[in-house]
This record gives sequence, structure tokens and C-alpha cells, in this order.
Amino acid sequence: MTAPLAPQFAFAACQHGAEAVLKADVARRAPGWRPAFSRPGFVTFKADQPVAKPEGFQLSSAFARTAGLSLGRVEGASVDELAAAVWALPEVATALAQLQPADLHVWQRDLAEPGDHGFEPGPTPAAMEAEGALLAAAPESYLGDRSGARTTPRNRWVLDVAVVEPDAWHVGVHRSTSRAACWAGGVPPIELPPHAVSRAYLKMSEALWWSALPATRGEEVIELGCAPGGAAQALLDAGLKVIGVDPAEMPAEVLEHPDFTHVRRRVGEAPRSLFKQARWLAADMNVAPAYTLDAVESVVGQPDMLVRGMLLTLKLPEWEVVEHLPEYLARIQSWGYRDVRVRQLAFNRQELCVVALRSRGQRRVQRQGQRKPKRRKDGPHSSRGPHQT
Ligand SMILES: C[S@@+](CC[C@H](N)C(=O)[O-])C[C@H]1O[C@@H](n2cnc3c(N)ncnc32)[C@H](O)[C@@H]1O
Repeated sequence: MTAPLAPQFAFAACQHGAEAVLKADVARRAPGWRPAFSRPGFVTFKADQPVAKPEGFQLSSAFARTAGLSLGRVEGASVDELAAAVWALPEVATALAQLQPADLHVWQRDLAEPGDHGFEPGPTPAAMEAEGALLAAAPESYLGDRSGARTTPRNRWVLDVAVVEPDAWHVGVHRSTSRAACWAGGVPPIELPPHAVSRAYLKMSEALWWSALPATRGEEVIELGCAPGGAAQALLDAGLKVIGVDPAEMPAEVLEHPDFTHVRRRVGEAPRSLFKQARWLAADMNVAPAYTLDAVESVVGQPDMLVRGMLLTLKLPEWEVVEHLPEYLARIQSWGYRDVRVRQLAFNRQELCVVALRSRGQRRVQRQGQRKPKRRKDGPHSSRGPHQT
């Protein structure tokens, strides 16, 4: 009988460049975990004591795309050598026996900031090659079944293999207890469609999926800062009617959409009567968070407004702005949005996504075929807000 699994290290994936802010956030929220090995986009932490109950592990931070317990590190000159070394780790054998992981997430740490010279997070050739080698060499005791799916069902153990360097992989495990934990490396399987006018399409698609915003087709959403329009297209593709507010020009393909209305003004100058039917609000303005919140409050704070929930992008012109996050979230809650969660989305740049709902009870229980992306059948989140993941 092998000794029970009791890892003492944890790992997290984050945005390339967000390592320091992730470490500072973990130091505040989980002081028992001290930073250890770190590379851009990938950070490990060491606990004072081994984790006796791996199922209770949490490293909740808005900046951790995905996180888990570490099982070890392997080095090798080829992917086949590395894959063999993964399966040969005694900790992996123990994890297979005791946790019976249902899936394998193989991902590479980000090598650039999202949107930088065309880089986008997600599957890379190195990760796909590693996954192929790992599956080819998998022992019979690995019972996972990928079946081509790019999302893991909820509440399963997942074996993680992070390609940290071409010749050095990090191995770990996590439970798929949240939507983002079901995606390899915490990156949802979203691709920029050919009709998208900007990469903001990716951000909004991820925001809708991660937040499980309970919006239904035909409802109106106000979008503050809508130009050039990728996010508006994602909202339109989700079946929503968009009232886009922005003094900047919009491209014809968005303007011509029958469910899009352009209010070509700054937020402060837009007639509030146009917003009376809207149930949702999104904001992505290239201004400091306090100004974004001023603009949002000037809309949702009006009498007779019926906005049930919001997706807000808060820009971080300097990472230090994060220190004010608790004030920003408290301000949003003071408008009557009690369920507030925050996450640095995989497709965010130096910014954060906040979802705010009137109450936790609003969170959508995904129904099959409800909205794109359509392949999920998740239950509600298990967290309490304001919640950082
Ligand atoms: C990051 S871009 C928005 C991207 C957009 N959501 C998309 O999907 O392509 C920021 C936008 O905020 C707009 N903006 C800045 N201040 C504004 C204000 N006071 N009122 C309305 N729009 C504003 C800018 O004109 C700019 O187009």
C-alpha cells in the first residue's frame, strides 16, 4: 500500500507578466503558501506543511488562470523521454491510484502577453506534441478519456502537465470545481471567428462563458466603449440586442447588424432614455477603473434602470492599481450588486473582468444549447463573492 498523496508544492498559470501580482495576491489571501520556482506565466508555491487533504486545496486568486497541487518536475531531451519520465514519477503513480484522474490537461506557459504580436493563449504545437506523447505512453492505470473534448466535466480530478520549457515539464493535479478549472491551462476553447473586427470578441466570449451571465436571447445590453466592435459582435452572436455607446466610428459590418444601435456619444452625453429597456451592461473603456466606474454608476444609478447584471473590464494601467480592487468591488456592491466576482481572463490584457449580479441566485445553471459556446452542461459556481477567480 502506497503512502497517501500529500503534496507540499502548488502551481498556478497566469498571464505572462502577472507573476508578481499573483504572488502578492496569494501572499494576502493564502499566506501559508510561499512563492517558490517561477517563470513568466507560471508560478509555484510551497506550503509550510504537506497538504493532507488534496481535495480541499484552493489557491483562489483573480490572477491564477488555473492552479493545482504539484506532483513533480521532469527533464528530458525529447518529448518521448519527458512523457516516459512523467508516468515514471512515483507521485504520479500514487495520484493515478488514489485520485483516478478523469482527464489530462497539457498546456504550455504563455510565452507573451495576450494580443502581443498575434499571440493568443491556448493550445500550442509544443503542448499538442506533449499531449500526443503522454497519451501514447500512458499506463493502463490512467483511466482518463479525452474523447476529443476540450472541456472536462465538473468535479473530476485532472492530471496537469505544464510545458514550462521544451525540456522541462511540471506535473500536478487539480479538481475541476469551477468553469475555468475545466479548461486546459484555464484557457477556454474559443477561437477568433473570421467575421470578428477585433480581438475583444475573444474577451467578451470568455467573459460570457466564465461568468455564466444569465442573459437570454433578445434582451438588451448597453455596451460602454463599444468601438471598434469585437465585443459587440460576441454579444450579438449570443442573441442579445446591443446599444453601443462610443464617440468613435464603428465599422459597417457591426453598424448594419439589425440588433445593433450606435449611440455615437460619450457616456456622459448619451440620453438615458435609450437605456430604459436594457437588462445588462458591459463596459470596456480605455480609462482608469475609477472613471469606468463613474461612467457605469451614471447609468445604473439612474432611477427606473433595470440592469440585472454587468460585465466590466477594469484596466490596470499599472499593476499597482490592483491594490484598489477591494474599493472598486465594494463600490459596485454598493449599487445593489451583491454577487461580484473578478478574474483576469485568459484573453484579457493588463486588465481584469468583473461580473456583478444583483444576487447569487441569478447565476445561470447552464442549459444545453442555451448560447454559444454550446458544448457545456455545468452546474452553478461554488464560490461566494466578491470572489477572486
Ligand atoms: C478598449 S476600446 C473598446 C473595445 C471594444 N469594446 C471592442 O469590442 O472593440 C475602448 C473604447 O472606449 C471608448 N471610450 C473612452 N471613453 C469613453 C466615454 N467617456 N464614453 C464612451 N466611450 C468611451 C473609446 O472611444 C474606445 O473606443
